[in-house]
Amino acid sequence: MRIAHISDTHITSESAYKGYAYDLIANEINNGDFDFVIHTGDVTNQGLREEYERATYELKKIQKPLVVIPGNHDVRNVGYALFEEFIGPLNGVFEFDDGVVIWVDSTIPDLSDGRVGSQKFKWLRERLKEYSDRRFKIVAAHHHLVPLPDTGRERNVLFNAGDVLDLLLRYDVNLYTCGHKHVPNVYRVEDLVVDNAGCTSCRKTRKGDVNSYNIVTLHDDGRVEVRIRRVTGEERAKEHRPVRPKLFIPKGKRLLRIVQVSESNVSERAYFRRKVLENAIRTINERLKPDVVVHCGDVVDMGIERYYERAYEFYERIKAEKLVVPGHNDITYLGYDLFSEYFGQPGIKEINGVTFIPVLSAQYETPIGVVGRMGQKKLGELLEEYRDSFTVVVMHHNIVPIPRSREVGFLEDAGDVLRVITIGEANLVLTGHGGNAFGIKVEKTPIVNAGSISWELHRNPYGNSFNLIDIYPDMMVAFEVQATWGSGRLVGIWKIKSPFKSPSPPRPSP
Ligand SMILES: [Fe+2]
Ligand SMILES: [Fe+2]
Repeated sequence: MRIAHISDTHITSESAYKGYAYDLIANEINNGDFDFVIHTGDVTNQGLREEYERATYELKKIQKPLVVIPGNHDVRNVGYALFEEFIGPLNGVFEFDDGVVIWVDSTIPDLSDGRVGSQKFKWLRERLKEYSDRRFKIVAAHHHLVPLPDTGRERNVLFNAGDVLDLLLRYDVNLYTCGHKHVPNVYRVEDLVVDNAGCTSCRKTRKGDVNSYNIVTLHDDGRVEVRIRRVTGEERAKEHRPVRPKLFIPKGKRLLRIVQVSESNVSERAYFRRKVLENAIRTINERLKPDVVVHCGDVVDMGIERYYERAYEFYERIKAEKLVVPGHNDITYLGYDLFSEYFGQPGIKEINGVTFIPVLSAQYETPIGVVGRMGQKKLGELLEEYRDSFTVVVMHHNIVPIPRSREVGFLEDAGDVLRVITIGEANLVLTGHGGNAFGIKVEKTPIVNAGSISWELHRNPYGNSFNLIDIYPDMMVAFEVQATWGSGRLVGIWKIKSPFKSPSPPRPSP
């Protein structure tokens, strides 16, 4: 099965419209061996009637079955009414042989941001249930699901991208296709292939790129291949073979045990649960006995001395080695100086052959994080320098969306940071924002977020918790440990390839 994936044609009625790129691609599609075509939105530029009239004419040039999804530009000026009139339903289902495309309208009138609202979310879940026996399940929407590189400031991701991502993974969706940022990109997120089309025919490409479309091939054995094809003829392909089976039994001795903590928010406020934190520290010291405890930030609720003093008392009780990176709460008021005074500037730490690389992402007086271009470059260099080691990147802010939390601007350069991490093949990333435990593997890198260990204002149905991550020679397993009860539940289990590439094998932990 071969699918042509076009997007962001931004058709206008003016002569400035880059119709030649569109014609070239439409021609290739007509002459190519494609079963159908998906257009992931921004068909028109302003959602105007004359644009829809022109778009109807242009879309007819494609002589293959065509699925068209609305984009934020299509719904401008109440264009969603015209979309239904000229093009078709805003949400729908397209069935093919042993597969299905479920498309969902992710637009919000007059905003560039995206959302799959609660009714549509239920509708999507119902469709995924209905078609759960199909071999290939494709979900299509306009907005991207995972932060993209080269987009400037990362924004306009779906507000509830974490929930949508979680839903797609639960229902074993094979492919998510989208457009919107005019950047062609392919990521493997667990067994889901996230296929972003670039810009098929408008002038607004990024970083001097040219127009392009993606070619998706679904193989009988379950492999999914996405080929980015630019109008210059240049092609880049990526193929994913689903991992089966998904559960592994560890072989060999455990190499490292990490306890990952976040958002303790030590304070005198009622939301800080002192007893829960004390209990968790007892569980860590007496039962779990990790090699290292990593705190992913928001140690205190506010950057004042009294809170730092208390937090220091708590963390002094932890017997294992500690690595603490600041969150945005930690550097409010005098926090920037207090953090260094009490916990020291986080630096590179090597334990049992594992290299922990802390990254500072918090800024003064805002929950929005940034690594920055210089920070990205430094991180890339460190990942290169420690390529032969097992690298763990530690930071506060999220680089992948977290269920139950709103995904707007949490890390403004998340897309570029995620690229640095995947290219550098970091072996693990630990984050701690969003108040919910979550773990997914993007490309070769598991990314694990910790919920809140002792702050009442969290988003975790499991309650206050922290993560326990065990690394074995061939696999890694992450559990979430309930902070009060000490019970655990699986967050993720990942096969890893030869984690320790260094000639001298690391000392196994007792
Ligand atoms: Fe667009
Ligand atoms: Fe868009």
